[in-house]
Amino acid sequence: MDLARQITELKAARNAVILAHNYTVGDVQDSADFVGDSLELAQKAAATAADVIVFCGVHFMAETAAILNPGKTVLMPDQFAGCPMANMITPKELAARTAELPGVKVVTYVNSTAAIKAMSDICCTSANAVKVVQSMGDAEILFVPDQYLGHYVQTRLGKALHLWPGFCPTHRRIRPRDIKEARAAHPEAKVVVHPECMPETIALADHVGSTSGILRFCRESDAREFIIGTELGLLHRLTKENPDKRFYLATELSDCPNMKLTTLEKVFWCLRDLEFVITVPPDIAQQARVPIERMLEVV
Ligand code: 13P
Ligand code: SF4
Repeated sequence: MDLARQITELKAARNAVILAHNYTVGDVQDSADFVGDSLELAQKAAATAADVIVFCGVHFMAETAAILNPGKTVLMPDQFAGCPMANMITPKELAARTAELPGVKVVTYVNSTAAIKAMSDICCTSANAVKVVQSMGDAEILFVPDQYLGHYVQTRLGKALHLWPGFCPTHRRIRPRDIKEARAAHPEAKVVVHPECMPETIALADHVGSTSGILRFCRESDAREFIIGTELGLLHRLTKENPDKRFYLATELSDCPNMKLTTLEKVFWCLRDLEFVITVPPDIAQQARVPIERMLEVV
């Protein structure tokens, strides 16, 4: 029996749902009940009636699902799929920085550990960061851990934020010269990038959006060609959903090795053996739930 069919049968037997991020490999996306960006996946995780959530993505996403679903089993097919950006800030470092900024509100990108979320006022994703910061009114904001997303929000709102010096190594590889060279090669193409890119790269784009924001823009645009400045896994949905349009990566180097750790075989083993269970210590989960739920109320 083929793997996809066995996964479908196990899923029914376990009353499980498979959630996959837009960057996972194609056959994993095709096996999922829902594929989306971080915000959509958090919303799906919050609303699911399934007993088991198989999370195909990286660790912080599964942790968020676990925080929102204390009674459910959250599994990752590969528990070593992490996000390097999430490890660029520790609770001790954040405590030291907030002590230097009395009264500051901490806005935390979901690409962070549960322990950092637990110390935050509100969370955000790349899809809602501008709206979330806007919802904080005149408050002084410390934005962690992505300096580039924070810089993008700052530019959009014309408001200065304190920025933590974290970044995504994958998106930092997309350089302004890559965009310029791709534009020279494809002069009719629209340039669409993720807000985790460097400000100099973002400045050259026609549109900036979360992974699902990029999908929406390309679907709705009249343009026929697009230069894509984000992780290369997004090409799967872009090409599948827009067979009449052409997509070029700004650079072939924009791969996230962690997102590629989840394979279809591992999804099967995960459902068969109910491994690997993702848990968050109850006290951390209780505190981290508050800023995540605040975010879900804003959007
Ligand atoms: P999205 O929320 O846009 O899907 O991005 C998540 C992520 O990890 C980007 O690198
Ligand atoms: Fe983290 Fe970047 Fe990979 Fe997204 S693409 S999971 S931010 S390393």
